[in-house]
This record gives sequence, structure tokens and C-alpha cells, in this order.
Amino acid sequence: MSTKGLNRNLQTAKSSKKDEFYTQLSDIERELKHYKSHFKNKIVYCNCDDPRVSNFFHFFSYNFESLGLKKLIGTCYKNQEMDLFSENKSENAIILEYSGDKNGNSVPDKNEIGVKKLKGDGDFRSKECIELLKQSDIIVTNPPFSLFREFVTQLVQYDKKFLIVGSFNAITYKEIFKLVQENKLWLGYGFKGGNAFFKTPHLKEFAKGVYDEETGLVKFRNVTWYTNLDISKRHEQQILYKEYNPKEYPTYDNYNAIEVSKVADIPGNYNGVMGVPITFLDKYNPSQFEIVGSDSDVKSGLLPEIVKSGWTGKTDRAYINGKRMYARLLIKLNK
Ligand SMILES: C[S@@+](CC[C@H](N)C(=O)[O-])C[C@H]1O[C@@H](n2cnc3c(N)ncnc32)[C@H](O)[C@@H]1O
Repeated sequence: MSTKGLNRNLQTAKSSKKDEFYTQLSDIERELKHYKSHFKNKIVYCNCDDPRVSNFFHFFSYNFESLGLKKLIGTCYKNQEMDLFSENKSENAIILEYSGDKNGNSVPDKNEIGVKKLKGDGDFRSKECIELLKQSDIIVTNPPFSLFREFVTQLVQYDKKFLIVGSFNAITYKEIFKLVQENKLWLGYGFKGGNAFFKTPHLKEFAKGVYDEETGLVKFRNVTWYTNLDISKRHEQQILYKEYNPKEYPTYDNYNAIEVSKVADIPGNYNGVMGVPITFLDKYNPSQFEIVGSDSDVKSGLLPEIVKSGWTGKTDRAYINGKRMYARLLIKLNK
């Protein structure tokens, strides 16, 4: 199946509001190993997680001591559209709290984890979940794809640190892109080979090739990690070995910028604005580059200086010889 096909599947997941996609423990371990220093003495809240099945809760409870956590909280959403296959079979929304190993066996035992019923449905936007959010330092979860925007907006509103899973396309949402540009959110390390596998009860809705009946896992190519925790990746300098020449880097018909169709080919000696694929964000180091804006910023009139003077044609995307380009980010080298 093509990447486009796989991305369409994620779109289906979002639009049909099917939100049950359970993250694999191995993927959580793989990402979290880069963030260890951030967790010492911190309260971690997994707020879209049934702690009885969530690998996020599992990871943090089993690594509680090695990370030096202060407390772990998990709340589960009382699924309104529960079906026979849903893992989320709770009658009530619940909260689980863990404050570390008490009996010295280094394992989170049942009697060490406090379980209480929530009054409401465990919606991350509910008053009681917001109270828990306020007490917490770092939110780590895979939130519902269909509510990603709202989820991030709430985290920013309460000034929380976070590490969450989301669709790569979310970068193009106005609200999310603004946060990227303001250096309030960036991409984490990502899934192995760009392939994210999730357990889901919605198998039958996905094409063969996307799901594996035996493992019960679906594969999405268009999913990544978003965070506002500092990571070394963000400080790595990309080696820019190419030199600008007008033949290889044509100027757009409509933008005052040159086309750089591969992130690895960004010329190191060009001082103007360059259009690059959005995968650039995976390599973005804010001390090396400035993000000037996106296609939609141009279209909505936020970057008038980018539009060529006298241009009367389309500004929905960059064009070269009348050919519409894929979505581009407009960047500049920091001097
Ligand atoms: C993509 S799944 C991920 C589950 C879990 N975090 C994991 O990674 O394995 C999103 C979860 O959010 C739950 N959910 C949906 N709407 C929610 C809401 N409004 N508040 C809290 N959780 C919600 C769904 O029931 C689902 O289990």
C-alpha cells in the first residue's frame, strides 16, 4: 500500500472518530529513552489512558524508580461508543495513582496502585481531569486523533510539558503550526522507520496490508511524536554541503523564494527564503534556521512580502512553470 493510502487510513480513523488505537510498549520505550533527564521528581499524567490496558501507564509504573518520578496518574475515558471489541470496557471512568514501590520488590503491585472512580466520564476536558492536569508536570499519552487540536490547545493553555503522539499532518493545522513557529512545540524522534503500529478493535475497517490479523496491529506511516521537552536532536546542526545555483534551485512563479525539493539539499550559502518539504521539521534546529511561514500563511495574506510584486495568479501553493508544488515550508538560514 502506498504512503498516500496509509495516510488516508489515518484520515478515516480521524473522521469516523474511531479513537481506539493502542500504542505499543516498544514504541514508547524507544521514544522515552531520549527524555529521561526530564522526569526526575515530576508528576506524570496519562490522561487518555485506561491504566489497566495502557502501555504508557505500564511504562511509567515499571520505570517509576529509575526515572525518579514523584507520582503517576492515569485516567480513563468512559467510552461512549463502546463496542464488543473495545478494550475500554469500563463501566465507570477511573483514576489510578501510583507513588512508587513500597514493599521493595521494584514492581508496581496491585495494592500499591490506588484506584478510584471518577465522578464524570473522564473526558480530558472535564473539570476533574483539568484539576489533575493542573497538579501534573508532564502529560504523556497518545490522545484521540479526532481531538488533537483541542488536546494541544488545552496543554498550552495550562502551560504543561508534554510528549504526545499525533498525525504528522497536524503540523499543517493553523494552531499547531503557530506553536511550531513560536518554538513552543516540536517533533520528537519518531517511530522506527516511520512506521507506527497500533492495536485496534477497528481492524475490519482497514485495507489488508495496513492491518495484520494475526497480531491485531494496524500500521500508520503518518504518525509521529510531538513535544515541548528539550531534546538533543533539536540542537543538531544539519551539514549543508550544497551550494546555491539558479538552475538547481529555481525561483517560484509566485513566491519570492527558491524551491528546495529535498531537505538534505538545502544550500548553505543562500540567504533568502527557501521552500522546503514539511519533513524539514524533523531536522529543524531553531538556532540554524528560521521558519518564515507556510503556504497557508501566504494564502491568508500574512506574508505579503513573499508574493511576487505584480503577481495576480493563485497563492494557495508555490508554483513553478505553472506546476503546483506539494505543501512547502518557507525557511531561512539564521545568520
Ligand atoms: C489513540 S487512543 C490511545 C490510547 C492510549 N493512550 C494508548 O496510547 O494506548 C486515544 C484514547 O483516548 C480515548 N478518548 C477519546 N476521547 C477522549 C476524551 N474526550 N477524553 C479522554 N480520552 C478520550 C479513547 O477512548 C482512546 O482510548
